[in-house]
Amino acid sequence: MRIGVLTGGGDCPGLNAVIRAAVRKGEAIYGDEFLGYADGWRGVVEGVTLSLDGQRCRGILPRGGTILGTSRVSPHLVNGGVEAALRHLAEVDALIVIGGEGTLGAAWRLAEEHHVPLVGVPKTIDNDVGATEVTFGFHTAVQIATDAIDRLHTTAEAHDRVMVCEVMGRNAGWIAIYAGIAGGAAEIIIPEEPFDIELICENLVRRHRSGRYASVVVVAEGALPKPGTIPFPEREVDIYGHERLGGIANLLAREIELRTGFESRVTILGHVQRGGTPTAFDRVLATRFGMAAIDAVHDGAFGKMVALQAAKIVRVPLAEAVGSGNAKRVPHELVEVADVFYR
Ligand code: F6P
Repeated sequence: MRIGVLTGGGDCPGLNAVIRAAVRKGEAIYGDEFLGYADGWRGVVEGVTLSLDGQRCRGILPRGGTILGTSRVSPHLVNGGVEAALRHLAEVDALIVIGGEGTLGAAWRLAEEHHVPLVGVPKTIDNDVGATEVTFGFHTAVQIATDAIDRLHTTAEAHDRVMVCEVMGRNAGWIAIYAGIAGGAAEIIIPEEPFDIELICENLVRRHRSGRYASVVVVAEGALPKPGTIPFPEREVDIYGHERLGGIANLLAREIELRTGFESRVTILGHVQRGGTPTAFDRVLATRFGMAAIDAVHDGAFGKMVALQAAKIVRVPLAEAVGSGNAKRVPHELVEVADVFYR
C-alpha cells in the first residue's frame, strides 16, 4: 500500500517514534511505501509532501519535535480545504493521522463524511484525548515539570518564598496533578475544580505557621478562579480560534503575596514541557502505537484510533476519542490524593 502520514497540532515528544515504528513495520512486514505530509493538515490541503522511508527514519527515535513538521491548520477551516484535501489524498491508499483533539477531530469528520480511509494515533502532552488511558508526550512533560518543581523547592526554601509554577495542559489538569503530586507541591490548582483564593491562602498561612517557610504552588494554565472571587481577564484567541492560555500564575502569585504577605515568585514552564527527548515510557508507547496503526491500516480498520486500555493496545472509534464531551478530565479521586498534603 501507499500510506500517507501526518503529524498535526502542538508537537510532543514521541511523534518521531510513532513515524519510525509505522514506517519500519510497514516496509519490513507489509512492503508498504510512505508519503509524508508536511505540517499536518496544511500539507494535505496544499499538496506539500515529503519523502518518507526507513532511511529517513534512522536516528529519530530519541528526537523531540517531528520530522514532518506540524501546524494547527484544519481542512474545515480553510476555504475549499476539504475539497483540496480529498483531491490530494487520492494519491495514497490510506492515511495515518497522528494528533490530538483538533487534528483527530478533523480526521473523524473526513472519515465520517467522505469515507477517507484513515487511522488515528493519539498524541498530546495534555493527556486529554478520550478513550485512551494515556497519550505519549504526557509522561515526558510530567517529568520535565517534576524536575523543575524539585529545583524550585530548594530556592524557595533558601529564601522563604512561595513559588508559583505554571504548567501546560489546556483545559485539563493532568500535567499539574501528576507533577504536583510527584514534586510534593503545597497546592495544586487545576481547571477541573475552580480555585478559591481565600482557601489557598489559608492553607499556605497554616502551613507556614506550622514551621514550613517555603511552598511550591503548581497551577495548570487553564485553571480558573471560582466565580465571584477574583476578577479574571478575558483570554486571547489565536488565528485558529483556540484560546491562548498562560499567565494565570502571575495573577495567583500577586494575590497570594497581597493576602498572606509571603514573598512570591512565578515560573511559567511553557514550551520546555514539549521539547526535547521523550522518556523511555513515551518511546515505547509511541512505538507500540505506530505499529498498531500500520496493522489497523492493513486490517481496513478505518475511522478508528489506536489507544491504550488496561495496558493493551486496542482500536476505538474516533468518535469515542474526540466526540463532543469525550475529552478526558482529571477525576476527583486524584484531587483527593493531593488534598491530603494541603494540610
Ligand atoms: O496542546 C498542547 C499545548 O502545549 C497546550 O498545553 C498549550 O496550551 C498549547 O499547546 C500551546 O500552544 P502553542 O504551541 O500554539 O503556543
